[in-house]
Amino acid sequence: MAVSYKDLGLVNSRELFRKAIEGKYAIPAYNFNNLEQMQAILQACVETKSPVILQVSSGARKYANATLLRNMARGAVEYVKELGYEIPIVLHLDHGDTFELCKDCIDNGFSSVMIDGSHHSFEDNIELTKKVVEYAHKHDVTVEGELGVLAGIEDDVVAAQSTYTKPEDVEEFVNKTGVDSLAISIGTSHGANKFKPEQCTRDENGILVPPPLRFDILEQIEKRIPGFPIVLHGSSSVPQQYVATINKYGGALKDAIGIPEDQLRKAATLSVCKINIDSDGRLAMTAAIRETFAKQPAEFDPRKYLGPARDELKKLYMHKNINVLSSAGKA
Ligand code: G3H
Ligand code: 13P
Ligand code: ZN
Repeated sequence: MAVSYKDLGLVNSRELFRKAIEGKYAIPAYNFNNLEQMQAILQACVETKSPVILQVSSGARKYANATLLRNMARGAVEYVKELGYEIPIVLHLDHGDTFELCKDCIDNGFSSVMIDGSHHSFEDNIELTKKVVEYAHKHDVTVEGELGVLAGIEDDVVAAQSTYTKPEDVEEFVNKTGVDSLAISIGTSHGANKFKPEQCTRDENGILVPPPLRFDILEQIEKRIPGFPIVLHGSSSVPQQYVATINKYGGALKDAIGIPEDQLRKAATLSVCKINIDSDGRLAMTAAIRETFAKQPAEFDPRKYLGPARDELKKLYMHKNINVLSSAGKA
């Protein structure tokens, strides 16, 4: 039997995005695959009084089991009440690639879905996105579409090169599909290696500085669809202290470079109202786990290394909400 997100106490993204654009901040969209990530995300967002989008990718569904994940998200509303402060929670499908997958999520308590048709032709992307929107809107579920291709890995789809969103396409796409938000490509990409060192310059301390995001493209898009909610994927900043800790304790991360936080801060003040972060969380947890293993080699209780990893993740997401997205205090 179908379950509506409304019966679970979840919300769709419509009102959150409206307020975020008006208030010049962005809603955090954090991915989860397990209990510790879910705990860290919710604790961080409750303590900073931030709305949150809990994201489930196809990879997460394969890893953790779709039924278990969505039931964890159902528990999220009760858990935040226990933590003492109610925040709006969206349960979102990240990078849905078929109508059937989106429908399955809509029928099982998701309040928002992404249909990522960016790897199809413009026409096929419109057709697929429209079909998802028609079904989703019957259930008051919001839909994110994508135009332009991000380099990196999106679930099973790997794109070697990014293709920037063409501003001249956005009006037609938004009008013909009826989507509620649009993910665009302006220089971000998935994963921890967003730029090659040769694409970067160096600052006075020799630190690599990546090329800036294409705010000119964002500006042109905003002119064509004023006030329309824009989404940035691939928005991890790849904190260098985590990279250093991972490598110090046996890791082998090479040329790991992310999007500087000031660029994301600027995007959040514009029409970007959802910022997707996953890789930074992976780095935070891996750094903490490697450090525990190195310093306490006799430890074998998973709680003793997953606990510190969860705490580091919570710290990181509190920092994002307060200092990067400015979503803190908006719930
Ligand atoms: O956009 C990709 C997200 O980081 C999810 O990654 O497909 O490995 O779960 P995943
Ligand atoms: P990052 O790999 O930069 O964290 O991007 C995550 C993302 O876009 C999830 O959809
Ligand atoms: Zn993404």
